Amino acid sequence: MKSIKLGILGIGNVAKGTYQTLELNRKKIEGSIGASIEIVKILNRRPDVDRGIDIPKELYVTDPYEIIEDSEIDIVVELIGGIEPATTYMADALKAGKHVVTANKAALAANGKMLQNLAQENHVMLRFEASVGGGIPIINAITTSLLSNDFDEILGILNGTTNYILTQMTDNGLAYEDVLKDAQQKGLAEADPTADVEGYDVANKLSILISLIFGVDIPPQDIPTQGITSVTTEDINYATEFGYKVKLLASAKKQDDVFSCNVEPTLVPFSHPIASVSNEFNAIYLTGNAVDDLMFYGKGAGPLPTGSAVMGDIISIARRIEKESDYDLLPLLRYDEKLSCIGEGQHQYYIRLSAADKPGVLGNISSTFGRFGIGIASMVQRAEGDEEKNTVPLIFIVYKTERTVLDEALQELVDKKYVEAIGSVMQVHRPAH
Ligand code: HSE
Repeated sequence: MKSIKLGILGIGNVAKGTYQTLELNRKKIEGSIGASIEIVKILNRRPDVDRGIDIPKELYVTDPYEIIEDSEIDIVVELIGGIEPATTYMADALKAGKHVVTANKAALAANGKMLQNLAQENHVMLRFEASVGGGIPIINAITTSLLSNDFDEILGILNGTTNYILTQMTDNGLAYEDVLKDAQQKGLAEADPTADVEGYDVANKLSILISLIFGVDIPPQDIPTQGITSVTTEDINYATEFGYKVKLLASAKKQDDVFSCNVEPTLVPFSHPIASVSNEFNAIYLTGNAVDDLMFYGKGAGPLPTGSAVMGDIISIARRIEKESDYDLLPLLRYDEKLSCIGEGQHQYYIRLSAADKPGVLGNISSTFGRFGIGIASMVQRAEGDEEKNTVPLIFIVYKTERTVLDEALQELVDKKYVEAIGSVMQVHRPAH
């Protein structure tokens, strides 16, 4: 039996999960390939540190180029994370004629096109199923089984940490800081949670999905992105009263030749399937013009779910190596030059203001909104507010408008002292059907 040789760059959670997935199901994996899989080298820069996994020490190397330049190795599995040096290692591996499997959304969102071009030039394969949605096989689905569809919209809950935090705030009425601390203690949130809670991790994943589904190259820094740090339990409670769950939603929508996208805390109606996705689970909801509505649901993080996705890519490449088939590229380069991005586009918004409790205030607010062409869909005023300041919370849901227009109207409310403060602004998702 042929032996297909792997070199793994990295020894973090995903690398350990990949190793464990192979050991767990080796017989089935090798049976499906018709060849054996051998991990011959693992990059571990600190081999003396206890990694909490029983891996033979002789596999460890401290120089990545012992893997990248090893003529015996067929597939380089990049599981270091971060844009650099991971991009350089992948590029060098592709140039050295190795197939590459990665889970690295930051490197792909930044350099996916360049890496894909290198794979094409060198007649090797680049696979990255684990970069979006952890164990959910979304990339395989949209690049194979669903290729015959045209998609107008994608919605995603693409980050387990933030979905866990929002779920705990919603279900248990806990404050953001308290849930974050608890999530860090349970190992569900990183010690430095910035990339997760500020939405950057989701923006990377959305950028990859957009390139595959719509053929548009939108760097993550061009996707309007807002994290969850300013979401309060007060907002979550008002959203519940209006019939919505608050979710950190990635969304992208195509209409004719324009395209809008964003990552932000969004009110999702209880009736939408994505509203029921809780805790560390992820989901991707999309509607194809042939297949209709689909939702992919599963664990978006964790060693074994992510290791399962990495192994899936390894198996698909290994089968081609075993059968000596030609290399196969994902249709990532199908760029649609006609589509232009208009930023966030028009949406309904939830707005929480704090205003003086006195006659005429509501009239001033609604006429200001009116002058900016913003219509009010729903409104709630609580008589109880901040007694010392004599202010009350006012909650609005406004009809579709541009966020820039809304921000100008809100600024005018503050400048003219019609309101004391803008508490929060979140998008409201309105399903098309
Ligand atoms: N940190 C991510 C999450 C997993 O919490 O979903 C890796 O993309």
